[in-house]
Amino acid sequence: MPASELDRALAQGRERPLPPEVERLLRDVGAPPRLAAHLRLVHDVACELVDWVRQYSPDLVVDREAVLFGAATHDIGKALHVAELSGPGSAHETAGRALLLARGVAPRLARFAATHASWTDGAVTLEDLLVSVADKVWKGKRVTELEDLVVDRLAGATGEERWEVFLALDGFLGGVAADADRRLAFHTAFPVVGGAGSPAAARGPEPGGA
Ligand SMILES: [Fe+2]
Repeated sequence: MPASELDRALAQGRERPLPPEVERLLRDVGAPPRLAAHLRLVHDVACELVDWVRQYSPDLVVDREAVLFGAATHDIGKALHVAELSGPGSAHETAGRALLLARGVAPRLARFAATHASWTDGAVTLEDLLVSVADKVWKGKRVTELEDLVVDRLAGATGEERWEVFLALDGFLGGVAADADRRLAFHTAFPVVGGAGSPAAARGPEPGGA
């Protein structure tokens, strides 16, 4: 059987593969290839980010598994709200969490589908922040307000001066963002519609959506 666009989105490129259970889930829900490509990109950046945080602040407790699962699934609700892959909308957030919960995913892992776009809630965790940062910086987008929250957490854990932490995080994220053009090219190479086994269909107009 020839490889589908979804197969290619899950396997091509230099990004790390998604966790096997997430690959199965994306096939089960007939995820658009663009969505699978997006999740791979954000998951890969999240891997780099969480490893940098753990190296920078070894005493800080970070749930790496949760960050990586969250990054790999954060936009899964867009399998149900496909228009939000290439346009605005937040219906995918609660829908994504509900989809994951209905498939037996633990609430602590399913929550990222609902939290990845909101970081001002007082209950936001470091893990939530890291998924949100990865979801921006993969395409070179820097959000000062969001990154400041990560700086606060790291400064609190390390006891370092805030400006020192800022410079370190800024340097790391700048390096990640430098590869954004390559990631955007990978992202837009996959169609917005046409899930598992479907032929390639229309390609969305907006680079860097999702
Ligand atoms: Fe996203």
